[in-house]
Amino acid sequence: MATRQSMADQAGPAARDHLAQVFAQYPIEVTSADGVWLNTADGRRILDLYGGHAVAALGYGHPRWLAALERQAGEVLFQSNAVPMEVRRRAAAKLVEFSGLPLDTVFFVNSGAEANENALRLACRITGRGHVVALEESFHGRTAAAAAVTWGAAGKWYGFPRTPFDVSFVPRRDTAALEAAITKDTAAVIVEPVQGVGGAFDMGRDFLEAIRLRCQSTGALLIFDEVQCGVGRTGQPFAANLYDVFPDMLTTAKALGAGFPVGALLLSPQIAAGLRLGELGSTFGGGPLACAVVEAVIDTIREENLLHNVRELAAAIRRTCITGPVTGIQGEGFLLGLRTRVPAKQVQAALLERDILTGTSGDAGVLRLLPPFTLGAEHVELLSAALSELPA
Ligand SMILES: Cc1ncc(COP(=O)(O)O)c(C=O)c1O
Repeated sequence: MATRQSMADQAGPAARDHLAQVFAQYPIEVTSADGVWLNTADGRRILDLYGGHAVAALGYGHPRWLAALERQAGEVLFQSNAVPMEVRRRAAAKLVEFSGLPLDTVFFVNSGAEANENALRLACRITGRGHVVALEESFHGRTAAAAAVTWGAAGKWYGFPRTPFDVSFVPRRDTAALEAAITKDTAAVIVEPVQGVGGAFDMGRDFLEAIRLRCQSTGALLIFDEVQCGVGRTGQPFAANLYDVFPDMLTTAKALGAGFPVGALLLSPQIAAGLRLGELGSTFGGGPLACAVVEAVIDTIREENLLHNVRELAAAIRRTCITGPVTGIQGEGFLLGLRTRVPAKQVQAALLERDILTGTSGDAGVLRLLPPFTLGAEHVELLSAALSELPA
């Protein structure tokens, strides 16, 4: 059998792939993109309903995103948090105001995992406790604490000899199990109000309210991981707004930069009041390029009425896409799970043959859609038509 190295040698040095071979990749090579369309090396135009794992919220080449980045790069491209900057203060204020949540303090980071890592560490330090409750099928990231609360990581790729705290996993929407798991030793409960990797599975208001109440009675802190479901994806600023349940800390990333790497940790006034100088830090977090983009993303969501667009077109997908192999639709807004009669991977491959890119999930029977918020009705029609051509 030819090894990767020997195949590359035959093809010549230019064809050598020096990237770590850790991803199962799509059989396409993207060379450019515009709007909601990807252009491939072999000349195809592919409708992107996956957005690079929920990142490309404004699609590709949005003029406001590009202008913000160019303007800020020309003004000051970088200074760390040690140097006060107006653009950083503005981005934090804008995020707090956009959220409409009782969380008034922002710490900017670079990724979802980094936001969760900091939230979990703060929860343990503030409460002085060493136990965290998470949900089955969760995904919170690849760093030590975030991965410790990620369902299935221990058996597959965790790698560390021990987790930084004890962890209990609770079945989704199982209020009795949840109430038993959260005790006076629990530092935090971390939950995605709408799970992403878990299959666009929404926790629902009743379950989230039960978590909130139990946290209150035990002194545990509630962390909403809105890395995937936040910043407009549900058709509301955050899923916390959708369900009217408010956490003590909220983490977000992905759509926040719509392609520029940035994450954020939002804190309640009580948590913020207990912060100590030096206990959070990050070289790149809160860099001016990221902050300029955050401002532009929020302004664009508002001025182009994209929350409304997400709600309208999510309803259109629910109305028209239960066809062909799709038996039902779950999730919220543009974090949708299409339940499929056959394995979702099969439907994903058939759609890609028809030039539509979608994602799978931890649930083999759920195809995940994470389209840009700028999607149009004509794109939903393309999806519905393609699905209806597939065997039921
Ligand atoms: C809900 C959730 N939390 C955290 C993460 C980790 O984010 P990142 O890959 O930016 O570290 C992800 C990534 O998919 C996610 O979906």
